[in-house]
Amino acid sequence: MNFAGKSLLVTGAASGIGEACARRAGECGAKLMLCDIDIEKGEQLCQELNALGVECQFHVCNVSSEKDVETAVRKTVKLFGRLDCAINNAGVTGLPAALDETSLETWNTVIAVNMTSVFLCLKYQLRAMKQQGSGSIVNIASGAGLIGTPNLAAYCASKHGVLGLTKTAVAENPEGKVRINAVLPGSTRTPMLEQSMALSAEVEKMVMASVPCGRLAEPAEIAETALWLCSDAAAYVNGQSLIVDNGGLSR
Ligand SMILES: NC(=O)c1ccc[n+]([C@@H]2O[C@H](COP(=O)([O-])OP(=O)(O)OC[C@H]3O[C@@H](n4cnc5c(N)ncnc54)[C@H](O)[C@@H]3O)[C@@H](O)[C@H]2O)c1
Repeated sequence: MNFAGKSLLVTGAASGIGEACARRAGECGAKLMLCDIDIEKGEQLCQELNALGVECQFHVCNVSSEKDVETAVRKTVKLFGRLDCAINNAGVTGLPAALDETSLETWNTVIAVNMTSVFLCLKYQLRAMKQQGSGSIVNIASGAGLIGTPNLAAYCASKHGVLGLTKTAVAENPEGKVRINAVLPGSTRTPMLEQSMALSAEVEKMVMASVPCGRLAEPAEIAETALWLCSDAAAYVNGQSLIVDNGGLSR
């Protein structure tokens, strides 16, 4: 894939799938705006990529803040002249609990970070891309966006919402100059999943039951799909929800 001369914004870029997207996009020649709340890890990754010759900047951005998201997009356009691609990836799971034991605080946080964030990112990214006449956006949803997910009601609802936002953005922009797709990763070996699995043997068992192929996805495997959707190779792919789970949801 060739991203030479293209600019790409990634949210949640400091870890896991977002980090893998940033590394792969850098290898493919993209100019990167890395957004995250984790300043230490974000700046470290940015320095590492800069040292490898990647044009890259880290921006502290809480994706649930409208001001932060607007600034991140504005800064990207100012720095690189345009915003060609965006991967809206930042997310949290929230503490697992049965729906009738879930606090409103957990609900509000998960919805804000996973879903309101995608609304805000789309709002400002679409404005920039429509003005320049082209662009490609990939929202990272989850298999939990398609099925009920015991003990993760807010997470499940937020990811269903991300798919609704993806489809609505496409329906509102039918000329297809700006493409918007979603990637639905299966269980992927990232700090988020490792932390969840460490909570209890029961959670670990549930996660492993979700991967009938017997292994978790690697972040790089999800990144490869997200970047393909961003790239010109997918020029006629629009409004899709692409499941990347090695057949896990096909049973
Ligand atoms: N790991 C999996 O099994 C899996 C499966 C399906 C979907 N996903 C989705 O993939 C995405 C990435 O998850 P991951 O597994 O790489 O997790 P991760 O915890 O490794 O990385 C998430 C990143 O998002 C950042 N972040 C959290 N809240 C933020 C906020 N408010 N503003 C900006 N950044 C914030 C974190 O600092 C972190 O760097 C999430 O949307 C997640 O729901 C993950």
